[in-house]
Amino acid sequence: MALSIIILAAGQGTRMISSRPKVLHHLAGKPMLQHVIDNSCALKPDQTIVVIGHHGERVRGLLDGQTVDVVEQGQQLGTGHAVAQCLNVLNKDNDVLVLYGDVPLISTDTLSGLLLDSRDNAVNILSFVPEDSTGYGRIVRRPDQSVTAIVEENDATDEQKIIMESNSGIMRIAGGQVKNLVDRLDNQNAQSEYYLTDVVKHAVAAGLKVSATVCDVANEVLGVNSQVQLAQVEQLYRRSQAKRLMAAGVKLYDPQRIDIRGNLKVGTDVEIDINCVFIGEVSLGNNVQIGANCVIENSSIGDNSIILPMTSIDSSIFGKEVSIGPFARIRPGTECADRVKIGNFVEAKKSRIGPGSKVSHLSYVGDTEMGGSVNIGAGTITCNYDGANKYKTVIEDNVFVGSDTQLIAPVRLARGTTVGAGSTITRDTPTDQLTLSRSKQTSIKGWAKPVKKQQD
Ligand code: UD1
Ligand code: CA
Repeated sequence: MALSIIILAAGQGTRMISSRPKVLHHLAGKPMLQHVIDNSCALKPDQTIVVIGHHGERVRGLLDGQTVDVVEQGQQLGTGHAVAQCLNVLNKDNDVLVLYGDVPLISTDTLSGLLLDSRDNAVNILSFVPEDSTGYGRIVRRPDQSVTAIVEENDATDEQKIIMESNSGIMRIAGGQVKNLVDRLDNQNAQSEYYLTDVVKHAVAAGLKVSATVCDVANEVLGVNSQVQLAQVEQLYRRSQAKRLMAAGVKLYDPQRIDIRGNLKVGTDVEIDINCVFIGEVSLGNNVQIGANCVIENSSIGDNSIILPMTSIDSSIFGKEVSIGPFARIRPGTECADRVKIGNFVEAKKSRIGPGSKVSHLSYVGDTEMGGSVNIGAGTITCNYDGANKYKTVIEDNVFVGSDTQLIAPVRLARGTTVGAGSTITRDTPTDQLTLSRSKQTSIKGWAKPVKKQQD
């Protein structure tokens, strides 16, 4: 049966104390709503509908360009009302899976389990057993365990409040029954809201089958209503990523101290020291070692490479056997070939560095095209900016640049050039020659050292 997914995301989220709509708050570097969309799209739905309301325009901004239908719920009259707004755009007869935009950890596995379990039923609820069920709808079962209703906290009797099995909010309604059941909802209850949960009681009254599948990973159905809960969910996400990496053979020096905000792909025998942050799409080849306190964003690092502590890498590509850091800053657009070495306090930006080249200490390499087997001495700066425009520096194979040199771009150091230390290079150099620009060294005989003046 074809599937339509409805993601409820119209609520206000007052308790976040933020001007940002709740579902746009980031979890692991990505809006919560996007997590729900991504995790559910693996179910290959025929249609995904997102119900927006509060700050609808900003939420719409996230959804622009994605293959989702957007439905506006002008007034938030309850979860049942939100689903009712979708009836017009819903592909008729599709099974419907209702998700919440603020329940971001729900996994594809749990959802496909729920769909499998519920094939013969009109309604199937994903329930869970929280440590404290206060605030949740309770699952009411007959002695034979069949489900008869979901009772909201505010409408529950004292007896019902003792029930621990709670409604996660996620449910599947069989195609063909959706309109029938949703049409029957009313708001005669403690909150004067149209409760989606009431579809259960209507289905039971109509003699339809209802079931509840207990989610054994209760963490997956945690809802985010406050910054504290957002941090909890972030921590859970972090832990699950750490577990995933270790299951893939990665050595984590401390699984509590790694942060993955995106997709981290790893080869075999990867080791990651503490406090590293991986953002966006990062891939690490086989036998890569990452030192403590590195931040790596949208980059790939080849086999047998080592990233030393305190290194920041953004949008760059590294070949095999490179050594970067400690304290290196690699800015976007840097491509290092195999065996490149970049040492401490080196900044590189939008530069190509050829195989085996070394920039070992205290340098800035920007807008540079560097060949192989180049050695850049300590304190070398490519002066790529004249205050208005940026220019390129070309350094051909086998060039040796002495320490404390400025290369005033645009400039080309031809193959085999040696630049004397302390030079300011303003013109292209010829191949295989020593080029230097240096004022003559003089010494002044009889020069008297200054003496500290006597204080009055
Ligand atoms: C709901 C369930 C409750 C369940 C709990 C799980 C109902 C009546 N109750 O309660 O059984 O235990 O979730 O967290 O369904 N939303 C809209 N439009 C609305 C109202 C809500 O889009 O008019 C969205 C919210 O943005 C949120 C979700 O629906 O993503 C749930 O709404 P919320 O008000 O938090 O539901 P609860 O009262 O917590
Ligand atoms: Ca509510």
